[in-house]
Amino acid sequence: MSDSEETQLEARLAEQEAFEPPAEFVEQANVSDPSIYEEFEDDWPDCWERAADLVDWETDYDEVLVDDDEPFYEWFVDGELNASHNCLDRHLDSRGDELAIQWEGEPGDTREFSYAELHREVNEFAAALRDLGVEEDDVVTLYMPMIPELPMAMLACARIGAPHSVVFAGFSADALATRMNAADSQFLVTCDGYYRRGDALDHLSKADDGLAGVDHDTTTVVVDRLGDDHDHALGDDHFDYDDLVADHAGADVDPVTRDAEDMLFLMYTSGTTGEPKGVKHTTGGYLSYVSWTSHAVLDVKPEDTYWCAADIGWITGHSYIVYGPLALGTTTVMYEGTPDHPDNDRLWELVDGYDVTQLYTAPTAIRAFMKWGEEYPDRHDLSSLRLLGTVGEPINPKAWKWYYRHIGDESCPVVDTWWQTETGGMMITTLPGIGTMKPGSAGPPLPGVDARVVDADGEEVAPGEAGYLTVDRPWPGMLRTLYKNDERFIEEYWDAYSDSGNDEWIYFPEDGAKIDDDGYITVLGRVDDVINVSGHRLGTMEIESAVVDVEGVAEAAAVGGDHEMKGEAVYTYVILEDGYEEDEETRERVIEGVEEAIGPIARPEEVIFTPELPKTRSGKIMRRLLEDIANDDELGNTSTLRNPDVVDDIEAKVTGD
Ligand code: PRX
Repeated sequence: MSDSEETQLEARLAEQEAFEPPAEFVEQANVSDPSIYEEFEDDWPDCWERAADLVDWETDYDEVLVDDDEPFYEWFVDGELNASHNCLDRHLDSRGDELAIQWEGEPGDTREFSYAELHREVNEFAAALRDLGVEEDDVVTLYMPMIPELPMAMLACARIGAPHSVVFAGFSADALATRMNAADSQFLVTCDGYYRRGDALDHLSKADDGLAGVDHDTTTVVVDRLGDDHDHALGDDHFDYDDLVADHAGADVDPVTRDAEDMLFLMYTSGTTGEPKGVKHTTGGYLSYVSWTSHAVLDVKPEDTYWCAADIGWITGHSYIVYGPLALGTTTVMYEGTPDHPDNDRLWELVDGYDVTQLYTAPTAIRAFMKWGEEYPDRHDLSSLRLLGTVGEPINPKAWKWYYRHIGDESCPVVDTWWQTETGGMMITTLPGIGTMKPGSAGPPLPGVDARVVDADGEEVAPGEAGYLTVDRPWPGMLRTLYKNDERFIEEYWDAYSDSGNDEWIYFPEDGAKIDDDGYITVLGRVDDVINVSGHRLGTMEIESAVVDVEGVAEAAAVGGDHEMKGEAVYTYVILEDGYEEDEETRERVIEGVEEAIGPIARPEEVIFTPELPKTRSGKIMRRLLEDIANDDELGNTSTLRNPDVVDDIEAKVTGD
């Protein structure tokens, strides 16, 4: 193509606002009949049997939905199943020799596991866990990076009915301790370390530091990822993963029969208060929901080589690297490292090398690819791709179009999927074989999902107006409660819009949104005190409490400021105690304090020293105002402030005027 043709093409794309699914895709799509929306509507809630049908049940359920104790809904009631059986055993006859996991380490080392091999590994580790004393319903914490032993450990836990609680490996020792204490988890599986941008990172010391903060006895299993690159010693209550598995070579562990409503896993996520929320997902509803959405939205077929380039430490990886794809018997790709190592084309090298058919990633990654330039994808043959997806934060139309054109060659539908840790799986997105795509808008709610955009009184807003997102009917993948905290579950998600007296229960995801004339929803972002950094949720309270723990800090506020790559970045406003200097050293200590308490992901982009924080007359910090200052936006009304003068001072510090 000549330069001028190329420019014309870019100009056409830049203007285009709607894209139809490519005919070739539609022809082969798992779901391509638009009547599905009506069918789900007419047959709700029984429509969800379509999801349950993708799962193998040991005992059939009696009822699809029971709602006599709202909002504690129960799905597929009295059904029995096991998630590990569903992801492994049931595929053995038809796909035993086909690949379940295709893994690549950052240095380029590879490991692959057929369904039969993965089944063997999971059985052996399940036997080992049992031997260590893990019983049904014990919470096992998995603090591991992207190595195959992580999904193996998840499936081993599922096999013996022990819920897992995966803690993102990038989180700090403190974060690990908080989560193990909150879940009363006595078992930890971790590893010696992993590779990041060419370095062998020590992970075990961080895990051990975390364990020192756990208030009960623990047993730990350590995977040796780094071999000779990193020597590690095992403590008294530590066991080597390979030794354990070798001791249980050939062991068979029957999958434990779990009730549909039994907990499959816990996942801690950030909320408005400092305490992370233990989101509880169940076996029947969750597994059915992620299988259904993998089938309908990601178009997963057993013969695919499907890649969700997320980290299993977040919900995206749970649902769409592990449970959804393995339940459908496909090959799921896992990559240990970053997209820019050794060069900016690493992802494209992997897509090319493994003939990846679907790629599901985050807008923050797409923005980075765009910045690096199309010369990197252009080095590789990406024609194996059939579908592209994004998740985690709003995607701007420019990034969407870049992805569509330069990665998908205008022949792959792009699904922009809105969902949350709490929803278990996707909720709002186009169906790739049916829906017109509108860059910047996730799309309509999925069939059977009742998402709306309302005002503060719960009335639906007119198209184009900003409002709040709500979900007005339950769905199978929904969280069932916050672990050991039913009260907070109701307060956080149901109190805002429900009319409990009239049995009207409405779920509030705490996102702002708008809707267009076609019912397409654009999610605008969080309306609570949660910052979305590169698609990862961080609570402002968690960051603030880390900052005030730093010596010399009297008070602090954390807000999200717009960031070209990360979507949002952390801005901290800090008041120092008398006698402490507003200097580089103090700034460094604040940054280190946050990294230590939460992890490098929460690293403040800016630390702004200020003598005061803007407060309302009742003493509440005006975070919105601090956000506006961080973004250099027009400031709203400041007349309600107790101390309006402070605003000019802070603005001057941020802009350097
Ligand atoms: O604000 C929304 C944003 O991410 C939040 C959920 O974060 P988390 O529980 O960590 O789960 C992320 C992966 C599912 C939501 O409340 N979000 C997620 N997907 C989108 C999004 N915002 C806009 N568009 C999306 N597609």
